[in-house]
Amino acid sequence: MQVTGEAEYADDTPMPPNGLHAALVLSRKPHARILSIEDSDAKSSPGFEGLFLHKDIPGTNKIGPVIDDEELFASEFVTCVGQVIGVVVADTHENAKLAARKVRINYEELPAILSIKDAIKSNSYHPNTEKILEKGDVELCFQSGACDKIIEGEVQVGGQEHFYLETNSSLIWTTDGGNEVHMISSTQAPQKHQKYVSRVLGLPMSKIVCKTKRIGGGFGGKETRSAFIAAAASVPSYILNRPVKITLDRDIDMMISGQRHSFLGKYKVGFTSDGKILALDLEIYNNAGNSLDLSVAVLERAMFHSDNVYEIPNFRINGKVCYTNFPSNTAFRGFGGPQGMLITENWIQRVATELKKRVEEIREINFQREGSILHYGQQIQHSTLAQVWNELKSSCEFFKAREEVDQFNLHNRWKKRGVAMVPTKFGISFTTKFMNQAGALVQVYTDGTVLVTHGGVEMGQGLHTKVAQIAASSFNIPLSSVFISETSTDKVPNASPTAASASSDMYGAAVLDACEQIKSRMEPVASRHKHSSFAELVSACYIERIDLSAHGFYITPEIGFDWKTGKGIPFSYFTYGSAFAEVEIDTLTGDFHTRRADVMFDLGFSLNPGIDVGQIEGAFIQGLGWVALEELKWGDAEHKWIPPGHLYTCGPGSYKIPSVNDIPLKFNVSLLKGVPNPKAIHSSKAVGEPPFFLASSVFFAIKDAIIAARADLGCNDWFPLDNPATPERIRMACIDDFSERFVKSHFHPKLSV
Ligand code: MTE
Ligand code: HPA
Ligand code: MOS
Repeated sequence: MQVTGEAEYADDTPMPPNGLHAALVLSRKPHARILSIEDSDAKSSPGFEGLFLHKDIPGTNKIGPVIDDEELFASEFVTCVGQVIGVVVADTHENAKLAARKVRINYEELPAILSIKDAIKSNSYHPNTEKILEKGDVELCFQSGACDKIIEGEVQVGGQEHFYLETNSSLIWTTDGGNEVHMISSTQAPQKHQKYVSRVLGLPMSKIVCKTKRIGGGFGGKETRSAFIAAAASVPSYILNRPVKITLDRDIDMMISGQRHSFLGKYKVGFTSDGKILALDLEIYNNAGNSLDLSVAVLERAMFHSDNVYEIPNFRINGKVCYTNFPSNTAFRGFGGPQGMLITENWIQRVATELKKRVEEIREINFQREGSILHYGQQIQHSTLAQVWNELKSSCEFFKAREEVDQFNLHNRWKKRGVAMVPTKFGISFTTKFMNQAGALVQVYTDGTVLVTHGGVEMGQGLHTKVAQIAASSFNIPLSSVFISETSTDKVPNASPTAASASSDMYGAAVLDACEQIKSRMEPVASRHKHSSFAELVSACYIERIDLSAHGFYITPEIGFDWKTGKGIPFSYFTYGSAFAEVEIDTLTGDFHTRRADVMFDLGFSLNPGIDVGQIEGAFIQGLGWVALEELKWGDAEHKWIPPGHLYTCGPGSYKIPSVNDIPLKFNVSLLKGVPNPKAIHSSKAVGEPPFFLASSVFFAIKDAIIAARADLGCNDWFPLDNPATPERIRMACIDDFSERFVKSHFHPKLSV
């Protein structure tokens, strides 16, 4: 249904009679006091039906997913371009936009913080967010003389736009004379929409319903940031007692709804001449933007993943959440994990360069093992790292590929090839313990069909298919007898956002719990008589007055982390994988293509290999966009030609997401065999986010190719390469007679972080 276009999304819902379209009035300054708002032009605009500002909000103006540090409509100050100041409703989408643009705001401009480095200089951090983790004694190790070499450096990690195909959209209406509010929303968090609308309108949550049939991608971008948009549209709907639809245009969606956090990492690493890592002192900073949102949890996951798969005997990591005058950044596939791991692989690559060794060798000799204690106290159990690495290494014929690439590079001056192999481990569970709970409702009808509802949202990841499979196998009925219609806050309450890749683990288990309750109620009837079909058994149970509906529930066992001691078990288990990539770059244009990518992934006993291979391919390609194609350009000190705080790259014309031409020419994805996971449903493993980071193999293969180009000029020193490794960056890193007229070998191109 999705690929043929039959599937309905929020904006496809027919507009009810009397419905209005909403458009947001947005700040055009990164930091300013609002002096006055002139609305006369807007009010006389065609089709105008109303303008609503902070003073019109019936309930509270204070919102936020973790702490209430945001205003629904800015009252006195704006703190980013794109902040919502009000909402206009009109008869059509176009008229609403036109009228919203005619609302004139007069500002008194104030100084703005427009990068992580600005924030560090101005000591601009979100309050009480600094985090520390420590293992061993870093100082002692550095001073002991045990390290043959100690190096220091910096890594900049770029952000990323979610670019879900369906932009944020909600349809909201009142019922029963205005006492109840219902909405259909494109969100990973219907419960958050219910809560925000309840608070903003001053209504109890019990009178608010949010439904989500499916969403056209979320990737974390709709874990929290969809909610303020729905809440903005709920104000005119409630006050005018009319249906209101809001659907954001792409440029507005990109400008206001937040992105993957850019990061800055500062490292000091000590190691032996064999390449054994002995000590790491790391500071990481993320660019949170103008509100806290989930930035602390994102920072925490980055800190937990800052070892990637490496044993670091002495390790200290300090994390800070930067307050900047940008739209609030948010969850994005991997949730800080990829940023943390990319910083790691950067200094690992540097250690290899310093020692003139192959980076894959440095990786291998520092692998964590079964029983390793991580820097946050969790112990490695059931590790499949060695298997995913060794099986990949032989199936991709790494040494042969290395040799062929070296030969190619000897014979070519302006085209260079590179290879890389990168491992990953990804922790499964929300690191916020209470979020690891899941509810489900299973209803069996007398024709033997089953309606399953659970708290998770279908966003293209195949969750409903997996969960339906679990119900069908539990009842031993065909998959076609199980239906999942929608996610709704009035069927399963208080659901966590569909996120952290754990939804099939958790909702699968909650549904299984409900199925088992029903089966045990049916058991006496089933054992009395042999029924010829499930439908017959169900009908017999119905006649016997057996309850054929059950609520199921699941909590992830044995997890918990204490930030006071910096120790605990944040993750139920880890998903492991490895990837090999081979690229070819054109050193004169900076263009590249991926000749081959091979992935070996451990998903335990996969619930659905078709879906899972699709998730791995999708995550890899999305990751490839992050590491090599997609560059956000913001109006900051480095980009003076963009108005301060504005997003220049707010559409596909200037922001390049992967297309069919970016798919590796050969792309092999394999699942590790014979490794049941004791920690999750039917011995499976979570898949959604873990493969994302494997695309860094393409990044390091590009860097490998650039190294070969520079070697032709006798330049063998380490050099920085930020992600995304766009053609511009690749070109300028491949120094030659042409580029040296403009830049030196250590040239470090600008990047908005
Ligand atoms: N796959 C598709 N097609 N669309 C999406 O939006 N989101 C990803 C991943 N795969 C996403 C996706 C993210 S960020 C997460 S956390 C998981 O799916 C969430 O779903 P799960 O818990 O069912 O894996
Ligand atoms: N992952 C995804 N979303 C989250 C998390 C997490 O660990 N914690 C809070 N929201
Ligand atoms: Mo995914 S970033 O946890 O929605």
